[in-house]
Amino acid sequence: MSTLAAVNIVEEIMALKRERNAVILAHHYQESEIQEIADAIGDSLELARKAKELECDVIAFCGVWFMAETAKILNPSRTVIVPDKDAGCSLVDSCPVDMVRAFKRKYPDHVVVSYINTSADVKAESDIICTSRNAVQIVNSIPADQPILFLPDINLGNYVKKQTGRTNMRIWQGACIVHTTFTERKLLEAMAAQPDAFVVAHPECPTPVLQHAGYIGSTSALIDYCVKSEHKSFIVMTESGVQHSLRKLAPEKTFTFVTNENCNCSECPYMKRNSLEKLRDSLATLSPRVELDADMMDRARGSIERMLAVK
Ligand code: 13P
Ligand code: SF4
Repeated sequence: MSTLAAVNIVEEIMALKRERNAVILAHHYQESEIQEIADAIGDSLELARKAKELECDVIAFCGVWFMAETAKILNPSRTVIVPDKDAGCSLVDSCPVDMVRAFKRKYPDHVVVSYINTSADVKAESDIICTSRNAVQIVNSIPADQPILFLPDINLGNYVKKQTGRTNMRIWQGACIVHTTFTERKLLEAMAAQPDAFVVAHPECPTPVLQHAGYIGSTSALIDYCVKSEHKSFIVMTESGVQHSLRKLAPEKTFTFVTNENCNCSECPYMKRNSLEKLRDSLATLSPRVELDADMMDRARGSIERMLAVK
């Protein structure tokens, strides 16, 4: 897109935003031009909290569908739109609600701790939600002898199990197609090329990758850590959209993103479905729009509120 065309689209978006009394929320994995015009940028926990504080009629959620569902559940009277209806997530796809219900029938004594990367109906079947930022804290808030089902991310689950020392924790077998395809081999190559670089990683990465990380945290926690750290050079094991904030907040530092084995990039194809044009069109038509059953939202809200109440 030419610069002039982008400027025109941004003007159209701003006019529609005023007309609709809308706010734009963007996840750190969105394209830079979307992050530039967002009212708030954050990780999944920050955006869930932000969605609760808003004064607006419309939330234009530039992220993936489950994040927009969370915003809708916390703001049932507001209109929530997503630029592209196919902005999904492999973790959501790995965890159909029927399988969760079948598990609950088989193991009724288990507390279900669900990662926020799940569908609204799975959240409604869950006891409590967590994000990558608070997963250890949430599991620690549950009595030590209570059996737990942690779903759906196997890598985050293994990380949490290790950090909390839980033995009675079953873990679903889902994975993020971006983080799970980062390999130790490529990380070791990058570390050999830059021996002074400090490694930071998202906990959705596999254990062999995480074992080399000096710091493990959620998207925003990684950004905060790199900005405040004394280190000058980093190898960053997560989605490359975080470059936008890192380069803005710490222009003097260097950040290397290791590519994954699937596509030789480190981009989430679901997150990248959104674009400025689609954002403009969704504000104009108020679609694709998140619409959910009211009873299901009430049950899902309970499990999200239980997470938000854990300090
Ligand atoms: P965050 O909780 O770090 O935003 O992660 C969400 C996500 O989808 C990571 O792949
Ligand atoms: Fe889902 Fe992975 Fe994309 Fe995050 S990066 S939205 S976990 S597929």
